[in-house]
Amino acid sequence: MPSQDALKTDPAKLTEAQAKAELKRLATEIAAHDKRYYQQDAPSVTDAEYDALRQRNSAIESRFPKLIRPDSPSKRIGAAPTGKFKKVRHAVPMLSLDNAFAEQDVIDFVARIRRFLKLSEDEKLAFSAEPKIDGLSMSLRYEGGELVTAATRGDGAEGEDVTANIRTLEDVPKKLKGRSMPAVCEVRGEIYMTKHAFLALNERQKAAGDTIFANPRNSAAGSLRQKDPKITASRPLGFFAYAWGEMSTMPADTQSGMIKWFESCGFKTNPLTKLCRSTEELITFHRKIEEGRAELDYDIDGVVYKVDRIGWQERLGFVSRTPRWGIAHKFPAERAMTVLKDIELQVGRTGALTPVGKLDPVGVGGVIVQNVTLHNEDYIKGIGSDGESLRDGRDIRIGDTVVIQRAGDVIPQVVDVVIDKRPKSAKPYHFPKKCPCYLHTELVREETATGEEGARTRCTGEFACPYQKVQHLMLFVSRRAFDIEGLGEKQIELFFEKEWVKEPADIFTLEKKHKRDLLELEGFGETSVRNLFNAIEARRTIALDRFIYALGIRQVGETTALALARGYGSWKAFHDAGLKVAKGDDDVIAEMDALDQIGDTVIRAVAAYFGESHNRGIVERLTKEVRILDAEKPKEDTAVAGKTVVFTGALEKMTREEAKAQAERLGAKAAGSVSKKTDYVVAGPGAGSKLADAKKFGVTVLTEDEWLKLINGES
Ligand code: IVH
Repeated sequence: MPSQDALKTDPAKLTEAQAKAELKRLATEIAAHDKRYYQQDAPSVTDAEYDALRQRNSAIESRFPKLIRPDSPSKRIGAAPTGKFKKVRHAVPMLSLDNAFAEQDVIDFVARIRRFLKLSEDEKLAFSAEPKIDGLSMSLRYEGGELVTAATRGDGAEGEDVTANIRTLEDVPKKLKGRSMPAVCEVRGEIYMTKHAFLALNERQKAAGDTIFANPRNSAAGSLRQKDPKITASRPLGFFAYAWGEMSTMPADTQSGMIKWFESCGFKTNPLTKLCRSTEELITFHRKIEEGRAELDYDIDGVVYKVDRIGWQERLGFVSRTPRWGIAHKFPAERAMTVLKDIELQVGRTGALTPVGKLDPVGVGGVIVQNVTLHNEDYIKGIGSDGESLRDGRDIRIGDTVVIQRAGDVIPQVVDVVIDKRPKSAKPYHFPKKCPCYLHTELVREETATGEEGARTRCTGEFACPYQKVQHLMLFVSRRAFDIEGLGEKQIELFFEKEWVKEPADIFTLEKKHKRDLLELEGFGETSVRNLFNAIEARRTIALDRFIYALGIRQVGETTALALARGYGSWKAFHDAGLKVAKGDDDVIAEMDALDQIGDTVIRAVAAYFGESHNRGIVERLTKEVRILDAEKPKEDTAVAGKTVVFTGALEKMTREEAKAQAERLGAKAAGSVSKKTDYVVAGPGAGSKLADAKKFGVTVLTEDEWLKLINGES
């Protein structure tokens, strides 16, 4: 490890040995950030901090070219694709806006426009003022009024094709309303997740041991990047239309007119959008929106002003990659100062410990904040990328005055420590060596995949640690697992404490063994006890994917559980495979590896789970109490089994969703785009680029009727 001093040394002053070590560290660190950003949608540093790391890497490399590593970040382009989706080139590039922070910047912006257009003083200049939604921009291409492609912004020139996922959004019309539609029309706007939906999603992710998203924007991104559109469909995403790309004809000549037209086509547009006729009106708008910001159920990070007349927008044009006709007037980051009163440790289901800072309650942007995550031991010490970059290496102590910020509006974090206010009594925080539970099990620092010391601390108690047991029981009864109504956090904790429910199987014997005890408890009347037992009985029969998910196997969230259930079909098949994988059976490991969406990490977690006799006992006792339904296996004996089909254009006998679902029931794979591997393209009227692709790749094209004949066995 290079010393902390070397890390801060000016690249121009590094010795060769230091440079070599530093390049190695940067390669690892940047790769880790890339992974978190691009694949997990969970960045742990700000864009500016990330850019600084890359710049440092380039500066050192240009001084010591012979030290450039084969895995250097400079050899990879910034916007690393996830590799999951097809690329789409934007017909009109998706650019971004310049930022204004101070009121003076807005005054200058308006003056610049007036000068450029040579407007006289009494000439009216109106702006469309719109909240700047903190989500992901999306370009929706309609041909003949039909949605054909939905693409992310990507690097502005090329984005990712997320059509199948976007089709599941209620806010995105599959067919535009209205009569005379432009032949081609690209509607652009923002995909976002509401704050409520974000918090609820994180609860579910946490219960499942899945990725916790840092803010609604990241969770919207993560939800869009799903391979299975069903997962996207289960995530409540919204869309506001506010701009356009390629248009074969223009239905309006002002920004505000375009917004009205989007509405008439069936889109949602932001209700706070306002036409402003002077700089004063713009600034008043900004103030008003900022005041109401906390009450909105979606994140915004500023407001956008756009010259209303499109003719003027065209004259103003662009300076490099931002328009002259528009600007984003950002809000200052929401920060507040308060005192850190204590640090508590939370133990998660998998034994990972999270230190939580207990604050003197303080208002930040209209919300009272009392807790703040302190991530891990290194973060508190101010070492490691998180702490170091935020606080310049200063550690956090109980009693310190800290500056907190609500990043992305929702999750507060400590961005600074006010050293001048540090009381003499404040001592460096020592991370405990024992679990806070009554067993005081030993805590250890986790190892990373490369065998180095990781940042996370874990309780070694595994099955003995009561915190972990309770967390697992909570996952077990949660909505995505057994979904037992009336059995929530409070009841689980209570029943666990009384030792009536120590493991999942005990839930199903609760009535037999503890009905009397329960009736004697305060707050449990005849009716509520009856309702609880009915709810438990109703869940004795369960779908295979929910059952697998409920076991709480590490790395096995909802999606993975579904993939395993589909892959194995029955509990017996999965259970047998799990036991064999645990014994290192190469054939069964290869078989599991061949399943869609299953890889090494999951296989290792399944092996670890079934390798533990304690888990095998839990499973054995539980399976005696419940009936696990087989998963629906894709059919293999139909004319289209194993074939890949793409539906495009308007279908007349059924909706595209129905057609896809039917194809999948018959064992076919319904894809969103055409490739060499596509077997059939079913094209209805208005089919556009996909039909052209089919011809290019020589794929069989069928009419809707021909397809129906094929699946009904008439051809
Ligand atoms: S107009 C030429 N309007 O902000 C740029 N953008 O930096 C046209 N955004 O990438 C964009 N709300 O994701 C526009 N009402 C709004 C917006 C908005 C959010 C985002 C968008 C864009 C970024 C601009």
